[in-house]
Amino acid sequence: MLNIALPKGRLGETVYDLFERAGFDCPSIREKSRKLIFENEKTGVRFFWVKPSDVPIYVERGAADLGVAGKDIILEYAPDVYELLDLGLGKCRMAVAAKKDFHDENTKTLRVATKFPNIASTYYEGIGRDIDIIKLNGSIELAPILGLSDVIVDIVETGTTLRENDLEVKANILPISARLIANKSSFRFAADEIGAITEKMKELVKTDD
Ligand code: PRP
Repeated sequence: MLNIALPKGRLGETVYDLFERAGFDCPSIREKSRKLIFENEKTGVRFFWVKPSDVPIYVERGAADLGVAGKDIILEYAPDVYELLDLGLGKCRMAVAAKKDFHDENTKTLRVATKFPNIASTYYEGIGRDIDIIKLNGSIELAPILGLSDVIVDIVETGTTLRENDLEVKANILPISARLIANKSSFRFAADEIGAITEKMKELVKTDD
């Protein structure tokens, strides 16, 4: 049985569709319930719903052989896993945003609110800018509005949240999409099964593009 960690939420549903089309279906997952684990002995897969930022932990520690996580989460937590495939799903970008009238004069330490302290630190180190990280867990857009920070480093998908809160993108950091990741020892010991899933998904992703 291959254990597969799916990110709970809209992205997870789309990702499951892809597994299903690749021939690794598990019909019980479609039933409305609060269950977290679903398996199909015929196709040899067991799926479970995991909080998106926890997927790399399950995969790194081998509780899952495979998982799907956003590039943002992979870069932030730098798990010791293999990244097998860009699924081209859940596309968005990591960006710096601030109030429209904010201009960084570079005279004092920049206060940066984010859920992604490592990504933010790496970005600002790269451009040689001194920052003070304010780690938040959600509703990041509030920080510059209330004067808690000068800027935010956050995910922008449609741009609606920024627009509706009178903020704007000041710089793009990197594009994000969902990646198929594998536990390192599973990749060796279940090479055939993992290889088959990856190949099939690669074909689907290519034709969908
Ligand atoms: C994410 C992100 C932005 C929003 C961007 O938040 O942190 O707030 O989505 O999407 P948009 O550009 O399409 O508006 P999420 O919904 O994950 O909630 P959070 O406030 O808990 O971070």
